Amino acid sequence: MSDQPLWHKEAVYQIYPRSFCDSNGDGIGDIPGIISKLDYLKSLGVGIIWLSPIYASPLDDLGYDISDYYKIHPDYGTMDDFDNLVKEADKRGLKIVMDLVVNHTSDEHQWFQESMKKDSPYHDYYYWREGKKPNGKQPPNNWTSMFTGSAWQYVPSVGEWYLHLYSKKQPDLNYHNPKVIEEVEKILNFYFDKGVYGFRCDVINQIYKESLEDGKGHSFSARGIEHYLMKEGNHQILRKLYEDVFSKRDCVVIGETYAVDFKNGYRFLADHEMDMFFQFELMGVDQSKGRVFSRKFKTKNFKRIAYEWQKNIPWNANYLENHDQTRSISRFGDEKRFWKQSGKALALFNLTLRGTPFIYEGEEIGMLNKPMGEPENSRDVCALYINSIAKKMLLPRFWRKRLINRVDRDHARTPMQWDKTTSAGFSSTTSAWIPVNPNYLEGITVEDENNDPDSILSFYRKLLSIRRQSIILQEGDFEPLSSADDVIAFRRNYEGGSMMTLINLSGKEHKLGMKCGKLSGKVILSNYPGSHVFLEMTLRPYEAILLQL
Ligand code: NOJ
Repeated sequence: MSDQPLWHKEAVYQIYPRSFCDSNGDGIGDIPGIISKLDYLKSLGVGIIWLSPIYASPLDDLGYDISDYYKIHPDYGTMDDFDNLVKEADKRGLKIVMDLVVNHTSDEHQWFQESMKKDSPYHDYYYWREGKKPNGKQPPNNWTSMFTGSAWQYVPSVGEWYLHLYSKKQPDLNYHNPKVIEEVEKILNFYFDKGVYGFRCDVINQIYKESLEDGKGHSFSARGIEHYLMKEGNHQILRKLYEDVFSKRDCVVIGETYAVDFKNGYRFLADHEMDMFFQFELMGVDQSKGRVFSRKFKTKNFKRIAYEWQKNIPWNANYLENHDQTRSISRFGDEKRFWKQSGKALALFNLTLRGTPFIYEGEEIGMLNKPMGEPENSRDVCALYINSIAKKMLLPRFWRKRLINRVDRDHARTPMQWDKTTSAGFSSTTSAWIPVNPNYLEGITVEDENNDPDSILSFYRKLLSIRRQSIILQEGDFEPLSSADDVIAFRRNYEGGSMMTLINLSGKEHKLGMKCGKLSGKVILSNYPGSHVFLEMTLRPYEAILLQL
């Protein structure tokens, strides 16, 4: 298929720049560090690199609070370093995707600073409102932020409140103002002109607030969401960005779309608002609404949700990890008894579904959640908000510790483990900005896994290479197969050819439980020695097999 878009063929690798590779020994990852690892990424077999934000920022939400879209944060380097990264990536046939964070800016952005003058044209770049009548001492509505607590902040010098759906240092931009859309288009074109290949658009299905009426319910977070989630105005803005900018570039547009449903998701693609988007339902499989309570992980639910998205959406952005999620083996696998097997099983699942696979830094070597720490030591602004609310509610420390451990985004943000030297080879200093997971000393590192043909890393390499050469895995349709509850079984079919994925996503042996006449095919990849396949077979714990039929 010569007219395939590149993002159908290539897998995406997400880099969290702060934690990837530190070139100058200050304990913080940087752009030259990323450049020094491009050959590694090339050898892994990915084609697109998505960078979490590297722009100027006070780092309240570690870069998702931008104070200047046209500057690089000095922690990460300079604009010359960035240009160099694009050039060096290009030399190796790798594409760069940037993070577009435009639901909000930082409160330190010049637009926001200016907006505090009521007569400034920038006042209308944000949602400034008077407090509720009669005395204005209450916020304009009862919305709660995504990070819990009121979504409004009062500024005495202005005499008004501003809206922030995330931290109070992340004021929301007002998309009723056409100037804001113009600014976004300018940012997009600036980076496209530098040679970037696309954007991952942060919380892009929340940007348009249809009304500021009170929200329903009593939720600690996201109360009011019915007034701004995927409204008609939101679709129209995305459509405009497509017409004005994206349609004129050879690019990929990826939406981060919290609480997206099939109807809106389908429309995002069908109406050319974006090329693919992240759904959150699968990540909610072990969580209650609002993430505060946990639910037991069940493979049966996991596959049901994944299959539904596969069936309803023509092209998915498939992921099991990112900088906001805890590590997938710790969560969906078994880090103690079947670390290697479950790491490979999850890889096979993620990389053989229909859609673009996303791999988060460290996932390819089976990195795990960090050890539990004190809640106050988290670097995650969201975890700190939750902790302070839990404290106000007098939740005992023991329970707060457990709660924060479950939601802490720090789990995904510990430094990349390159080798067994100082700070796991991430930095020459022993004091990285966030502590290294001590398990690098047990061999969860790139260097250890590089030379081991049986490692999780080697499995990823093989799998990425198979996917790259297989039109069936790239373009084939998705056919779920009936199987035992803990067994995932599906086929991918393309022009008469088929591949089958079989995974026992549990720590116990399981019969396949497939109801079909016969089963035969060639095993092209497996995470156990000597896997062979027949209908009555028993899959070993976390056994994962890719078959060519
Ligand atoms: C989603 C990002 O992935 C997350 O890290 C951030 O905190 C929020 N959006 C706010 O920008």
